[in-house]
Amino acid sequence: MNIKGSTNIVGLIGHPVEHSFSPPMHNAAFKQLNLDYAYVAFDVEPQNLKSAIEGAESLGIRGLNVTIPHKIDVMEYLDDIDEVAGLIGAVNTIDFKDMKGYNTDGIGAVRAIEEVTSIKDKNVVVAGAGGASRAISFYIAKYGAKSLTILNRNVEKAQKLAEDVLNSDLISDVKADSISEITSYLNHGDILINTTPVGMHPNINDKPIASAGNMHDDLVVFDAVYNPNETVLLKEAIKANAKPVYGIKMLLYQGAESFKIWTGREAPVDVMEEALRKTIDLK
Ligand code: ATR
Repeated sequence: MNIKGSTNIVGLIGHPVEHSFSPPMHNAAFKQLNLDYAYVAFDVEPQNLKSAIEGAESLGIRGLNVTIPHKIDVMEYLDDIDEVAGLIGAVNTIDFKDMKGYNTDGIGAVRAIEEVTSIKDKNVVVAGAGGASRAISFYIAKYGAKSLTILNRNVEKAQKLAEDVLNSDLISDVKADSISEITSYLNHGDILINTTPVGMHPNINDKPIASAGNMHDDLVVFDAVYNPNETVLLKEAIKANAKPVYGIKMLLYQGAESFKIWTGREAPVDVMEEALRKTIDLK
């Protein structure tokens, strides 16, 4: 990487950030397109968030990704919030051109799924009702799903999220139920999305949230867990002849969307995916 006096800086703020996959992914993309940009990670303690945003603006930083624990708190320091990011109530990308916040996590998931099937008019079942589910659920609604069913251990949390999505007017059929009822929803489901940490390293042998016997071969199964690459849930999907969508694709496409927001260019996703895979393999 050739850093010069003219180099545009973008990066990541979070706490911690040292294990992030984003720097190699974005820097590979800048190199590929010969863009005079560099991506770096900044570890920002919660009490320093305001001064970090103000400082970044003063330094002429072009854009930032925002990760845990700042995704919600950062919104109060921005001038504008993208409509869906506002509904989600969390921002993972800032464009300093207009101090605007976006949420590309959910877009990442829908683009990953849309590699294999269109979301429009589909019945979508989402397991989990935390931050990732929230970002994904609003985008599933925005992309025209026919119905959305949110399943969670804590049913109240699923109901609250379902209510919020329904109130957005992006979709009219939203249900909430216990995750223990998953099999009955899979019969009529077209797309299953796992946002729970079940199967995540080191618990790779967890009992999956659904098994092959409960899946039909038209089902698309997306697991937001990317470590391991092939989770217990995706193994079940493959056994059932359903279509697996790997968690790494969500990481890839959220990055591709941020890249486009900052540079105005389509991201070179093949190069970014290769960089991502190399980095994940090192861990
Ligand atoms: P994230 O930001 O990744 O979404 P989160 O906000 O902590 O993380 O949400 C985690 C989600 O996974 C929650 O919906 C949680 O269910 P509860 O609300 O009932 O706690 C769900 N989850 C975590 N561990 C789980 C497990 N072992 N089985 C089923 N669901 C689980």
